[in-house]
Amino acid sequence: MALNQSPAWDNLVAHQKTVAPVHLKELFQQDAERGKRFSLEAAGIFLDYSKNRITSETMELLLQLAQQQGVPQRIEQMFSGAYINGSEHRPVLHVALRNRSNRAITVDGSNVMDEVNATLTKMQKFIQAVDSGEFAGYTGKKLRTIVNIGIGGSFLGPKVVSDALKPYWQEGYDLKYIANIDGTDVAETVKGLDPETTLFVVCSKSFGTIETLKNAQACRQWFYDCGGKPEHVKHHFIAVSTNIPAATEFGIDEANMFPMWDWVGGRYSLWSAIGLPQAIVLGFNNFEKLLSGAHAMDEHFRTAPLAENLPVILGMLGVWYHNFFGAESHAVLAYDEYLKDLPNHLQQVDMESNGKSVTVDGTAVSWQTGPVIWGGTGTNGQHAYHQLLHQGTRLIPADFIMPLKTHNPVADHHAQLFANYLGQQQAMLEGKTYDEVLAELKAKGIDDARAKEIAPHKIIPGNRPCNSILLEKATPETVGALIAMYEHKVCVQGAVWEVNSFDQWGVELGKVLGNGVYSALESGNLENYDSSIAQLIEKFRSAQ
Ligand code: F6P
Repeated sequence: MALNQSPAWDNLVAHQKTVAPVHLKELFQQDAERGKRFSLEAAGIFLDYSKNRITSETMELLLQLAQQQGVPQRIEQMFSGAYINGSEHRPVLHVALRNRSNRAITVDGSNVMDEVNATLTKMQKFIQAVDSGEFAGYTGKKLRTIVNIGIGGSFLGPKVVSDALKPYWQEGYDLKYIANIDGTDVAETVKGLDPETTLFVVCSKSFGTIETLKNAQACRQWFYDCGGKPEHVKHHFIAVSTNIPAATEFGIDEANMFPMWDWVGGRYSLWSAIGLPQAIVLGFNNFEKLLSGAHAMDEHFRTAPLAENLPVILGMLGVWYHNFFGAESHAVLAYDEYLKDLPNHLQQVDMESNGKSVTVDGTAVSWQTGPVIWGGTGTNGQHAYHQLLHQGTRLIPADFIMPLKTHNPVADHHAQLFANYLGQQQAMLEGKTYDEVLAELKAKGIDDARAKEIAPHKIIPGNRPCNSILLEKATPETVGALIAMYEHKVCVQGAVWEVNSFDQWGVELGKVLGNGVYSALESGNLENYDSSIAQLIEKFRSAQ
């Protein structure tokens, strides 16, 4: 039976008609305990989801849909190493990377924890060697600038982690990123670096991603231009990859290669050796704490009943808006400067995972799947796109994320930030009625006719849903838990929408076609291209 003809779906369609006309203000007036009733806490993350357009019945019906769609089974399958990435015939085991309990996870008869633990030990030893200078640059100087070369999952998640945990960086270290194939990225990043103290970490599961390869080659050329020799490359370049031959050919010593496994998707890989650059800078101890925080969320996700399960609740609320209210996007609003890149990472985690149009068995879906994820930091966003959140025509559910304690107590900034965090949510919920606006204008002495003219512009409808997500403080543990929570939210939604959340064939097509265009740019052979692409290729060729 198709999802959108199923009993649980039909019940929600009917129920939505009873909830849609009710304003959130009424729901709060009816129930003094609403805030507490719709709140949860797990793994150091507090979620108040009371400001959603839901009743207790909504949640029951949403959880019935989750049950009907096999969410508990999907969770169980993922944690037990089942081959749930069907189109690539792979298990999905990023949870093994942070399985601090060391519970055995068996794939094809072998316990993957053996490889995971061995890799963590190798990472720890390597970090100690860099710290002590035992592994040093070719002139014997300690390596203190780490450059992460990687794109997609080898960039976005790692960057969130290192930015979010900036207060934990070890003294003397610096960390930079090169991702984009735009030469500006590499040129600007290497400017001013000391080749004798710089370590490049080439992070590429495949060691075949063109951006990463070209950037690694450009960095190696820069190293030569600064006086380095081919025999010195192994002191300044290491790799995280499954492709040992390609990394060896590049000049990297096999002793300094860290493995990846095909059961870790790129966008879920920050917990693996892909996190090595961050672990160097944060210290291995803090990297382990990051894993522990994620593991705490994993255990919660694996064991908590659906009704008390943070990622399940978040996932089902998203389903409620995207499938039953027609919401097309979801905003991630981080009230923490250190978390400024979280929306970028969640774009990849969510949109690359659930941006799918067929079910796991290849049937075209006839319901909406993954939403557009976007966002930024508060309060900057308040002076930009929040206008549309408050008065635009679209319903955009939003997550407001903030740590209760700051790492940087500057005057009363943190209280001001929190006041904004809550003030925005209050405005989204309550809005302002015509009568309230009119009364305000008249109180200012504005005459009746003019007040009536202006009033429509100042009406704020309110009734816009949001989640309040709080961390005690942005620590390695809470940041790990937060990112894991969102990964699992995506897993829940993928199960409901019946899609494979773990492949990315659309992205793969772009990679292949990009290579084809590159050949045409060189050869001028336009026979495979339509008149638009052909004319653009010609324009580029004649501009060079
Ligand atoms: O962006 C698509 C993708 O396949 C991601 O999933 C992955 O993180 C990225 O490309 C980079 O791939 P690789 O680690 O193989 O260089």
